[in-house]
Amino acid sequence: MKKLASQLIPAFRSTHPVSRLIPAFRSTHPVSRFIHPAFRSTLPILLLNILILLSTFPAHAQHPLPKLGKDPLPAVIAAMTLEEKGKLVVGMGLKIPGMPANIPGMPPPDPEADALPEKVPGAAGRTHPIARLGIPSITVTDGPAGIRIEPIRGNDSTRTYYATAWPVATLLASSWDTALVRKVGTAFGREVLEYGSDILLGPAMNIHRNPLGGRNFEYYSEDPLIAGSMAAAMVKGIQSNGVGTSIKHFAANNQETDRMTVNTLASERALREIYLKGFEIAIRQSDPYTVMSSYNLLNGTYTSQQPDLLTTILRKEWGFKGLVMSDWFAGDDPVAQMKAGNDLIMPGNPDQSKKIVEAVKNGSLDIKDLNRNVEKILRVILRSPEFRKYKYTDRPDLAADALVSRQAAAGSMVLLKNENHTLPLKNIKKIALFGNNSYDLVAGGTGSGDVNRPYTISLSQGLAAANYQLESDLQTGYTEYIAAAKAAQPKDPMAILNPPPPPAEMDLGTDRIDRTAHEDDLAIVTIGRNAGEGKDRKEEGDYYLSAKEKEMLKTISGAFHAQGKKLVVVLNIGGVIDMVGWQDLADAILLAWQPGMEGGNAITAILGGKINPSGKLACTFPLAYKDVPSAGNFPGKEFKEKEQKGFFGMPMIPAEVEYEEGIYVGYRYYTSFGIRTAYPFGYGLSYTTFSYSRLEVAPPSAAGRTEIRLTITNTGAVAGKEAVQIYLSAPAGQLDKPAEELKAFAKTRLLGPGESQTLHFVLNAASLASFDPHSASWIAEAGDYTVKAGASCEDIRQTQHFRLAQSLIAEKDHAVLAPPHPITSPPRSRP
Ligand code: BGC
Repeated sequence: MKKLASQLIPAFRSTHPVSRLIPAFRSTHPVSRFIHPAFRSTLPILLLNILILLSTFPAHAQHPLPKLGKDPLPAVIAAMTLEEKGKLVVGMGLKIPGMPANIPGMPPPDPEADALPEKVPGAAGRTHPIARLGIPSITVTDGPAGIRIEPIRGNDSTRTYYATAWPVATLLASSWDTALVRKVGTAFGREVLEYGSDILLGPAMNIHRNPLGGRNFEYYSEDPLIAGSMAAAMVKGIQSNGVGTSIKHFAANNQETDRMTVNTLASERALREIYLKGFEIAIRQSDPYTVMSSYNLLNGTYTSQQPDLLTTILRKEWGFKGLVMSDWFAGDDPVAQMKAGNDLIMPGNPDQSKKIVEAVKNGSLDIKDLNRNVEKILRVILRSPEFRKYKYTDRPDLAADALVSRQAAAGSMVLLKNENHTLPLKNIKKIALFGNNSYDLVAGGTGSGDVNRPYTISLSQGLAAANYQLESDLQTGYTEYIAAAKAAQPKDPMAILNPPPPPAEMDLGTDRIDRTAHEDDLAIVTIGRNAGEGKDRKEEGDYYLSAKEKEMLKTISGAFHAQGKKLVVVLNIGGVIDMVGWQDLADAILLAWQPGMEGGNAITAILGGKINPSGKLACTFPLAYKDVPSAGNFPGKEFKEKEQKGFFGMPMIPAEVEYEEGIYVGYRYYTSFGIRTAYPFGYGLSYTTFSYSRLEVAPPSAAGRTEIRLTITNTGAVAGKEAVQIYLSAPAGQLDKPAEELKAFAKTRLLGPGESQTLHFVLNAASLASFDPHSASWIAEAGDYTVKAGASCEDIRQTQHFRLAQSLIAEKDHAVLAPPHPITSPPRSRP
């Protein structure tokens, strides 16, 4: 009883109205003079507490304290003190090894969190435990391309904790194969489980608005159907292990410049159709445990403080049941975050808890809002491995997962060019392998999207393992050069946000190149790029190849072609680069993206023909950067005069970016405005060919449902898979329409020569509809629709038409998230 009282009293004291009488009783009640002075202050309080306990909660007095999972949630929430609630909604536990203390702008330390033993070293954070109510602390870990944890722990040299580096999201999206992505997710989630984490902070799924976006590699596509479908497949795979995911960053977080201060101004239509659509698909299809709100402001309000985004749209319209957590250090008002439905503030600091508690006390935050957020968090905790007391092994099957990683990489890479059947390699024994990244593969980007992996198979290792003979002079030269350049790089404890620039390409000299052109059968050059959170890419020397890179390609191409030998270029990049200034120099170009730790083996499998490439672009490669529809307004304008210092001493410059191109993002723009591209969305070559036939489109039902059938036949000599795309051209009525939009896609199974497969697609009223901001509804306008079956958005193989007799309202939504002024759109007129 004494124990029970002591447990319940604090809960009571802060919330029960009688509790405010205690101090008054202590000093003024006449009975007090009969009590020994030593007990005078404590006895009455004890008696009063017992009285309250017995009079108002007799049930509690007879039953043990409610426990999470055993008792109904309302009882657990009712038993929590206000302070406990304030703690639960604010996270803890981010530890950055080697980070210097007292960095300006850093939040104050949290002694309680620091005292708690770390469960998963290297995790991005965790929640506060409340042991007396059976509420454990759950752990969240980055990131989208593999679980990011500390691989070496303390002085223990006997074992390591490395994780699989999967292909980055942009590469996985190029598979157009949701079953493959789900398979990756299933293996990935197993590592999350076995390394003791509860929630994986991914997948990341913002739209590639501009090729210079520093985190594009973490994101899937310029198209929301691809982004949403891939994210849903990944979530389903990961969560099939009983761990959670956090789809991020919600929403309109499409640049890294001024990421914590930029105010994204976008029209309701662009938001609904492009920037929110992918999240909507993922939520509706896959039930992620959590959503991570983003850093930026959206039409004037931080997304983590925006109730229309986090409650009206996410929960009321889309039915999201899980919790929303903030991005790390995002937003500026914890109370506003609570009100908006940003349930958990990460990584959290005690000041935020204090502010939340004070706000409830002074009436500026309704306890109902706080209870709602607490409930969301508890519901996720109930689904966690930690709650189930899962005995994780710290020993996932890395060998098995490496094979899945390799298979996913090889199943997604895109063959961009293949003149005169340069690939697959035939009669090639000795290869001259050029370019730093041939020896030092970029497995994935930097920042929280990077993975501490056991190894990275470079292309040189992949080729050697497949018994190709590599020019040893180059191999030694590059290995020594890269090692020396890396050793000379400054060691920055904050390298996660500020990685050193990659070493410049090694000087080769024409003699060396000429000699290899005589001696070797083929040249391969790898061009590499890396980027990550906190910074966008630059045009010069990044989007465009550096003068040194161009010179290298020109010299090698000239020397090998002079000998009647060929040049293959491998692109080991995380974002779109220029192709026009150099691609004529190459006979074949393989876009490997950043393929994860098995990359070198996967590239080799494609070059050698063990795997027939079947990836296609999920983003456009334009002819020039200036052709990108957002080139004129990326990354927006800064208000330098208002600069302040933020966390980690980083400059915080208020900024604004206006999405003037509206819905005309990526191929929606290029196809509508007749702008030629270097490689269009959906493009990719194979070692075989496919024919498209018998496109059948059933007339739409009264509800707007349409069924489509299409037959694909392998018309070439080797087995292969084809990524098939269904575009729709809708009639322009009250709303303008892009020339075409992707509405469905599928990948065939491996088809042998002459083999066919009939694919089946379903469109519904929502697929036909566009968002009308005036009525806040999705309208499928009456008129003629064209269904186009394509091998890319520009390579349409079959078309069919249907007529919608009457306009349909596919869905009525809320009129929210309006920009402060109309956003001009579209940027350029149709030719
Ligand atoms: C990133 C998130 C990441 C978080 C935790 C932030 O800087 O934007 O994507 O999950 O850090 O590491």
